[in-house]
Amino acid sequence: MEIKVETRPLMRGNGETLILGIYQEDSLSADIKRIDRDLGGKIENVWTTKEFSGKFLETLLIRTDHKAVPRILLVGLGLAKEITLDKIRQAMGKAATTVRAAGGTKMAVPLFGMGSASDVAQAMVEGVILSLYQFNLYKTDLKEDEKEITGLTILVSDPSKKMGVSKGALHGQWIAEAVNSTRTLCTLPGNVLTPTRMEQEAKQLSQAYPIDVKVLERSEAEALGMGAFCGVARGTAEPPKFIVLEYKGQRALRGAKGKPIALVGKSVTFDTGGISLKPAEDMEKMKYDMSGGAAVLSAMKVAAQMKLPLHIVGILPATDNMPGGNAIHPGDIVKTLSGKTVEVINTDAEGRLCLADAITYSLRYKPQAIIDLATLTGACVVALGQHAMALFGNNPKLISAIQQASEATCEKVWPMPVWDDYYSQIKSDVADLKNTGGRPAGSITAALFLKQFTNDVPWVHLDIAGVAWNGDKPRPYTPKGSTGAGVRLLVKYLTHLAGR
Ligand code: BES
Ligand code: MN
Ligand code: ZN
Repeated sequence: MEIKVETRPLMRGNGETLILGIYQEDSLSADIKRIDRDLGGKIENVWTTKEFSGKFLETLLIRTDHKAVPRILLVGLGLAKEITLDKIRQAMGKAATTVRAAGGTKMAVPLFGMGSASDVAQAMVEGVILSLYQFNLYKTDLKEDEKEITGLTILVSDPSKKMGVSKGALHGQWIAEAVNSTRTLCTLPGNVLTPTRMEQEAKQLSQAYPIDVKVLERSEAEALGMGAFCGVARGTAEPPKFIVLEYKGQRALRGAKGKPIALVGKSVTFDTGGISLKPAEDMEKMKYDMSGGAAVLSAMKVAAQMKLPLHIVGILPATDNMPGGNAIHPGDIVKTLSGKTVEVINTDAEGRLCLADAITYSLRYKPQAIIDLATLTGACVVALGQHAMALFGNNPKLISAIQQASEATCEKVWPMPVWDDYYSQIKSDVADLKNTGGRPAGSITAALFLKQFTNDVPWVHLDIAGVAWNGDKPRPYTPKGSTGAGVRLLVKYLTHLAGR
């Protein structure tokens, strides 16, 4: 989508649909009234008849007699005192999908007034690009009249704001496009999005940005001693790939700031459950079991686009979880890269096995923080549904940094404990650990399992099993299907860390 920022008068358009955000107040604002004079009082009209009242996410399309601006879409912003950046994102999402449904291909919108112009512009652009996402790669009968919106112009009245707005708009575009490409990776089926394809995606990043990529093949991972990751990969003929990305921004940084951030993403490209086979119902969804890894890829891409002065290591232990002839059996004992042994009670608890070795591997980089994202447990979906990720960690400062990023992006996280009280559930009679802790507190025992591999390095684990997929109705900027969860949160955390 082409995004422009201009200072021209509102009614001097090029045939775009003009979006007007309107608060639910006693009367129309002076700005709106001024535009309305050019429209012969059409807005005042629908306002007094209560056809449109500014209620949050309410929309009304008005046709005008102006060639330059043939259509105006009113979108309700709700009460002015209750406006937030996320409501702006939602309102713009609602506006964009409404314009598309009405056949519009270009839109213009005056910057909504509130707080930082740059933040508002970013949220507006995010709302538009995120809401319009569609996965059409495999539809061979696409109708020509299903037009795409190709242009968005943000209008600013105060020229001194133009720079800030342009910057916000560009960042919003980078971030939202990265979320959308995450959605595509997670929606691609297991026969397409293989570990090899994930490797290709990583290598593409390294061609476009200062990101190094190293890939360990099955034999190399085995030789290193990644018995847990390789144990999972034993059941599949599809070559596993242990993918390591490294982004080094300007490294003029000294001390703790210069130490890398390790981002670890669960990258199970399809999870059948292995020998502990999953039921057929809903199994097709397990193509999105690499959502954590895809989010890490996208966050690193945006960090590079923004030239953040950080050192970031991304780790994607990519493999299918299949019940092949060589697959591990329940009861097998594997030796992890850390040296700890694990009794595999259930081969469907494969994520923590892959992540155990990935977290241990990340310690080689002496990270200041490890953040892992994983569609780890069904129990997390039971606990929090699809609106919040479960947040676990061993370091209050890092936890609160993630909570801050969560509040700023409205990617909701909810804190859960990793108390040692639960440890007896994952203690094995025949090895150091077992890979399941029974039904009680399934997300917590999974997190506690991961914690055993962090060696007290500040660590946060985000269980994104619920949020990574919208199986419900479309939301204003989140269509059905893969959501690209975690990307905006990670980028916010990283930009904040970089002092931006
Ligand atoms: N990938 C699944 C978790 C999952 C379930 C993600 C539903 C998204 C939606 C994970 O590998 C898994 O199978 N976990 C098991 C663990 C159990 C065997 C201890 C689970 O949650 O049932
Ligand atoms: Mn599983
Ligand atoms: Zn899984």
